[in-house]
Amino acid sequence: MNFTVVGPGAIGSLWASYLKDAGHHISLWSRQTANQIVIKRDHCLANTFTNNDPSSVMNADVILVTLKAPIVEQVLTQMKSYINSDAIIVLMHNGMGTAEAIKTHLPDNPLLLATTTHGAYRPSSDLVSHTGRGKTLLGAANQKGQQCEFLVEVLNHALADVAWHHNIDQALWNKLAINCAINPLTAIHQIRNGELAQPQYHAQLTAIVSEVCAVINAQGFKAEENNLRQIIDEVILATSQNFSSMEQDIAHQRPSEIDFITGYVVKCAHQHNIAVPANQALYNAVKQIEQRW
Ligand code: PAF
Repeated sequence: MNFTVVGPGAIGSLWASYLKDAGHHISLWSRQTANQIVIKRDHCLANTFTNNDPSSVMNADVILVTLKAPIVEQVLTQMKSYINSDAIIVLMHNGMGTAEAIKTHLPDNPLLLATTTHGAYRPSSDLVSHTGRGKTLLGAANQKGQQCEFLVEVLNHALADVAWHHNIDQALWNKLAINCAINPLTAIHQIRNGELAQPQYHAQLTAIVSEVCAVINAQGFKAEENNLRQIIDEVILATSQNFSSMEQDIAHQRPSEIDFITGYVVKCAHQHNIAVPANQALYNAVKQIEQRW
C-alpha cells in the first residue's frame, strides 16, 4: 500500500521504517526541506524516503499522522488539496480534540484514531530506536472509518501488536488519564516519570485522577478511580527512567500538548459543570511557563 507518514518524529519514523521493511511504499511529509530523508532504525539497514512530495500524497492510500496534536489541524489544512478523498486518515498522537477539526476539513475521508504504547527515541533526524515494544489500538472516528478494520492486519504485519477497538474514544480517554497524571507534573518539576512515585506527589496524583475520572464518566465512558490510579502507578514504574514528552517539550522550550491533554479535560469539565481545581492548576502552571519564553 502507499502510505504518507506526516510528522516523522520518533513514533512516525518508527512506523515509516517498519512499514517500509514490510514492503509498502512510504513517503514522508515533514518540516525538513530536503526532498529525501534517510532513516536508520536500530541495527537495520537505512531506508530512504521521499519527503514533501505532493504526488506521493495524492497517491497515498493511508495518511498516517504522527504530528503532535497542536499542529495537526494546521498541517493537514496545508496538505488538504493533495489528499485524495478515499485516503484513510489515521491520527496517532497524545491527547484528544483534533478529530473534530479534521472531520470538518476532510469530511469525505475515512478517519481513524490510534493510540500506541510502543516506545521510540530519535537521537537525531536520521536515527530511530525502538526502545520498547507495545500495543497499538485503532478505531473508527466516522462512518467511513468503520469500513477500515482491514488496516489492522496491514499494520500488524509491519509492527505488531495492533488491534481494532470498537470504542476507540474509551481507549483514548484511558490514555488521556495517564497523560494528565504524568505529563504536566513531570514538565513543571522537570523530573523523570519515576519521581512521581515519591510520597510528595501522592495526594496531587489522587486529586488529578479523581477529577479526570469524573469527567470521563460525565462524557459517557467508563473509568474507575482505583483502577485508573493503579494503571497510572504501573506506567510510572514501567517508564520510571523516561522523561515524558511534555517534560521534553518544556525542557526544549517547545509548545507542549497541554491544550490537548489537561486542557481538553478542563474544557469537558466546564461543559459538565464539574470542578477540576487540581487539573486547572496544572494547566495554568504549564501555560505560565510557556508564556515566559
Ligand atoms: O507522553 C509520554 O511521555 C507518554 O505518553 C507517557 C506514557 C506519559 C510515558 O512517558
